Amino acid sequence: MLNLKFKQNRYHFDPLENLAHNLKLRRIIENGIVAIFKQWKKLTAATSFDHELQKLSYKKAAEYALNNFNNASYFPNKSQLYQYIQSEVLSRTNTEHIHAEFGVFKGQSINYFADCNHELRWYGFDSFEGLPEDWSGNGKMKEHFTTAGKLPKVRQNVTLIPGLFENTLPQWVRAQNKPFAFLHLDADLYSSTKQVLDIASSYIDENTLFLFDEYFGYVGWENGEHKAWIEWLTIKSFLAECVAYAGNGTALFRLIKKHNK
Ligand SMILES: C[S@@+](CC[C@H](N)C(=O)[O-])C[C@H]1O[C@@H](n2cnc3c(N)ncnc32)[C@H](O)[C@@H]1O
Repeated sequence: MLNLKFKQNRYHFDPLENLAHNLKLRRIIENGIVAIFKQWKKLTAATSFDHELQKLSYKKAAEYALNNFNNASYFPNKSQLYQYIQSEVLSRTNTEHIHAEFGVFKGQSINYFADCNHELRWYGFDSFEGLPEDWSGNGKMKEHFTTAGKLPKVRQNVTLIPGLFENTLPQWVRAQNKPFAFLHLDADLYSSTKQVLDIASSYIDENTLFLFDEYFGYVGWENGEHKAWIEWLTIKSFLAECVAYAGNGTALFRLIKKHNK
């Protein structure tokens, strides 16, 4: 017995066995490293593809802005644009007219706007069940942004209207029977943005302002809020101009006049 024990101990410290043991370890490490390296290569390939896509989208957006937003104020980021909206825009909108947000999620932006002027009532529309369909190109799938139907905490001057826009908005606008002063369109999708514009159409006048959160500058922006807006302007024979925009792709518009057909 003693002998055996001794042998076992020797077995562990035998230099050759030790080397083999180490080699096995090395193989495991090497396999691990190679596997990680392969994963890394895949990841970086995807990242550089994403990067190129993003760069192209930015380029197209920048060209679009240069060609179309000549008179607009430019802000490097959204918070500076929001400050401008607070000081220069919301201080001048008609308080009797409707201020509404489409796409509330956890209430971040609607609470910001509500805090700009406590006398102003804001109406927030959202299903609180997330995107009703996949956001093509963007990678955000149906139900992204869901709060599982839970309404966020909002300021006292905010009223939430839960449900899909197509179900809640038609009856609501008829009951209010007032023009919109300010629409914050932050539902991301072409379809949802189009629905809001179509339904709100009869309650829009020459003073209505439209803030699009994802107007441009992301992969597929040409098929999102931008497309819904351009189509709506064309169908309604309106012309619009960008008042201000930010580097993240948020843009504020006002109507200028009807096309003469
Ligand atoms: C980007 S989130 C809004 C973000 C929010 N404005 C903020 O500042 O955090 C988009 C929201 O739009 C809502 N939404 C999109 N399409 C909708 C539709 N057709 N009807 C109702 N809600 C919709 C989603 O439920 C989601 O909460």
